Amino acid sequence: MSSSRATAQTDRKLMRVLAGEALPTPPIWLMRQAGRYLAEYRATRAEAGGFLKLCYTPALAAEVTLQPIRRYGFDAAILFSDILVVPDALGQSVAFLEGEGPKLDPIQSAAGLARLDRSKTGEKFGLICETVARLRQDLPRETTLIGFCGAPWTVATYVVGGEGSSDQASARRFAYRDPAGFQKLIDILVDTSVDYLSQQISAGADTVMVFDSWAGTLPDSEFARWVTAPTARLVRDLRKRHPDVPVIGFPRGAGSNALGFVKETGVRGVGCDTAMPLNDMRALAKGTGAAVQGNIDPLLLVAGGEALDRRIDETLQAMRGLPHIFNLGHGIVPDTPPENVARLVDRVRSAAQVAA
Ligand code: CP3
Repeated sequence: MSSSRATAQTDRKLMRVLAGEALPTPPIWLMRQAGRYLAEYRATRAEAGGFLKLCYTPALAAEVTLQPIRRYGFDAAILFSDILVVPDALGQSVAFLEGEGPKLDPIQSAAGLARLDRSKTGEKFGLICETVARLRQDLPRETTLIGFCGAPWTVATYVVGGEGSSDQASARRFAYRDPAGFQKLIDILVDTSVDYLSQQISAGADTVMVFDSWAGTLPDSEFARWVTAPTARLVRDLRKRHPDVPVIGFPRGAGSNALGFVKETGVRGVGCDTAMPLNDMRALAKGTGAAVQGNIDPLLLVAGGEALDRRIDETLQAMRGLPHIFNLGHGIVPDTPPENVARLVDRVRSAAQVAA
């Protein structure tokens, strides 16, 4: 780590918590904090003309990343992009159809893997890293910059299924019928993700998060093989290039597999979904030393009011004395009233101070 990076990071609360410190007021940021619930996001997205165009236009992608920081002063900014830029950059072109979510031309057997070409990724990854570099220039010094990618398993579910699904059946079928072929796909995604995250770190990301949104659909034996093992290799290979940069995992739906996931992958932070009991979050932090992040229900943030206040207080109370990053258990949804986000941030910051 260069000394300027080291000095700046002591000012960044989220980095201190990832190093294992418990702070009286936890750092706060929210998954999908840039997005359609904000009028200024909708305006910039309209200006870009399309979602992927927005991701690949550094000035506009940096602008939407900064919008929630200006409004709410979050402790961290997350690069504005999407997990599906990886298959897109590899040559499996991705389209986002209005109101329908992502569409890819599916790859359902090992023969189709020839369509993925790591030598093609430079231009698109370059544009995204230009966004990262701009952000590090424009963000307040104390704001942590989070880079990210999708985890190999979750990205594979889109590569194979060609769209979102509720049970990831296409990828699970592929993995059962041809485990060696599916492993080749996972290996391509691990290697590409290591390159991609490494480039984001070189451009200025302080930490990186690996989103495994569909980890919870796998049975136990498959969880170890397709979630834990590929993430462990990703973390290990990234650490060879950037030994001091912590990785945050998000094995959504992992349940009781979360503890083994953290121990075996070496992630320094772990995102907890809405289903994880606060007691289990405490046990996870105590049992691993990793920072735990989460886990307010995004729909409670839509509802707001006293129910939200109560849950904020319970969460702060349960996590006191442990390395905790305040967040939701999944991304903000588009019908979230922006004033509820302001209420959440205020309450986390003032309630924690009163209790301290
Ligand atoms: O958190 C942030 O603010 C950073 C940006 C970010 C986006 N997607 C922006 C986005 C991040 C970190 C993601 C991750 C992502 N993308 C995941 C993993 C996290 C999760 O939510 O489970 C997944 C599974 C995707 C794939 C994806 N991207 C889907 C299924 C969709 C369509 C659904 C939807 O909400 O429209 C997207 C599109 C997308 N990614 C949007 C945003 C702001 C909405 C696009 C728009 O403006 O219309």
